[in-house]
Amino acid sequence: MSQNDVLFERAQKTIPGGVNSPVRAFRQVGGTPRFVTKAQGPYFWDAENRRYIDLIMSWGPMIVGHANPEVVEAVKKAAETSFSYGAPTEGEIELAERICALVPSVEQVRLVSSGTEATMSALRLARGYTGRDVIIKFEGCYHGHADSLLVKAGSGLLTFADSTQNAPSSGGVPQDLVKHTLVLPYNDVEAIEAVFKKQGDQIAAVILEPIAGNMNLIQPSKAFLNAIRSLTNQYGSVLIYDEVMTGFRVALGGAQSLQGIQPDLTCLGKVMGGGMPIAAFGGKREIMSRLAPLGNVYQAGTLSGNPVAVAAGLKTLEIISRAGFFENLTSQTQKLMAGMKQMADKANIPFAVDSVGGMFGFYFSKEVPSSYEAVTKTNIEAFKQFFHLMLDEGVYLAPSAYEAGFTSMTHDDAVISAIIAAADKAFQKLGA
Ligand SMILES: Cc1ncc(COP(=O)(O)O)c(C=O)c1O
Repeated sequence: MSQNDVLFERAQKTIPGGVNSPVRAFRQVGGTPRFVTKAQGPYFWDAENRRYIDLIMSWGPMIVGHANPEVVEAVKKAAETSFSYGAPTEGEIELAERICALVPSVEQVRLVSSGTEATMSALRLARGYTGRDVIIKFEGCYHGHADSLLVKAGSGLLTFADSTQNAPSSGGVPQDLVKHTLVLPYNDVEAIEAVFKKQGDQIAAVILEPIAGNMNLIQPSKAFLNAIRSLTNQYGSVLIYDEVMTGFRVALGGAQSLQGIQPDLTCLGKVMGGGMPIAAFGGKREIMSRLAPLGNVYQAGTLSGNPVAVAAGLKTLEIISRAGFFENLTSQTQKLMAGMKQMADKANIPFAVDSVGGMFGFYFSKEVPSSYEAVTKTNIEAFKQFFHLMLDEGVYLAPSAYEAGFTSMTHDDAVISAIIAAADKAFQKLGA
C-alpha cells in the first residue's frame, strides 16, 4: 500500500468519498488520488515524495506557478496584520479598480469567496433587475453548484451524472426550481433564436462560459456569440459571461477581450485570487447598483474581500499584467499541444488539440469537438488509459476527459519537452 492509499483510506472515514470536491476522487479514471504535500512552480509532490508536472494548476488559479515568491511575500505581509476584519480595506478598492481597468465591461464589482457565489449572485441580480425568472444556460457549461444551475452541467456533473433532458444533474435540487432554467446546446444559433422568439420577454438572463472549459475545452462560434448578444439586447435580458475559468487565463481581459463582446455582467474567480478563495461578479453600474445596500437584491459574505486573499489577487494580477506575459503563456501552451499532437500522430492515434492563452484541451477524436454531445462521443476509454500512463511518467492531467487543462508561466521549454517526451512514451504504449 502506498502512502497515498493509506491517506485515501483514512480520508474516506471522515470525508465523504475522501475528497472535498468530487473530481479530485479519480472516479472517472479509477485509482487512488495523489495526496499533495508541497508544490513549487510547475511541480507538486505527493505523499510518497514523488514529483509530478502539474497540468491542472489547482483547476486554473495558479497561473504564476505554485508558491510564486512574490505572491507568497504579499500574502505573508497581509497575514501579519490579521486575516480578516469584517470592515472595508483599501486593498479591496485597489482590487476592484484593477479588475475594472482590465475588464472594461465591468464598471463596478463585488468581491465574494467562490465562483459558485459569483454566478449565483449574478443570477439573482439579473432576476432582480429584470423582474423575470427564466434563465438560459448551455449544455456542458458548469457555473458552480447553485441549485438553478445544476441542469445538464459540465465538470464533475458531466463526469458522474446520468442526466436526462432538463432534469436536475444533482439530487436535492427541486424540479420546481430548475423549471425556470432552459438548457440549450452550445453553439446552436437556431435553438437560441427559437427560444427568444417564443418567450424572450420572460428571460432574465443568459449565462455562458464564453470559452467552455468544463466539458473539456470547447470554443464558441462567432455566430453563436453574436446571436446571444443581439438577442439579449433586443429582449432586455442580462448577458452574463461566466469567466471564472477564462478570466485572466485566456487573455488579460478574458474571453470577452478576444471576442470583442461586452457582456452586461461578468463572473470572475480562480486566477483573480492566485489560489486564495476569492471571486467576483461585476458589470454595468446600472445593474450593479441594484445590489444591497443600494438596491433590494441581497448579497453578503463574512469573508468577502478577505484581505489576505485580496493581497494574493493583487500581486497575481500585477504579475500577469507585465509585458509579454500572455504572449509567452500562449506560445508555451501551443508548443505543448503541438508536441502532444505530433506524438499521437506518430503512434497513429486519432487525437485533436486546442488551446487559448494558458488553457488547453485535447481529445481522443479526429476533430476538435464543438458541443457537449460531440465531446461525449470522443474515446473516453483511451483517455483513461492515457491519464494513467502519463501519471506513471510523472505528469498530472485532469482526472476526467471532460475538463480543460492549464499551464502557468513556470511551464518553460524544459517542462514542456518533458511532458511531450512522457506523452511520446504513453502514446506508444497506448498504440501497442
Ligand atoms: C466556469 C466556472 N464557473 C463557476 C465555477 C465555480 O467556481 P468555484 O469552484 O470557485 O465555486 C467554476 C469552477 O470550476 C467554473 O469553471
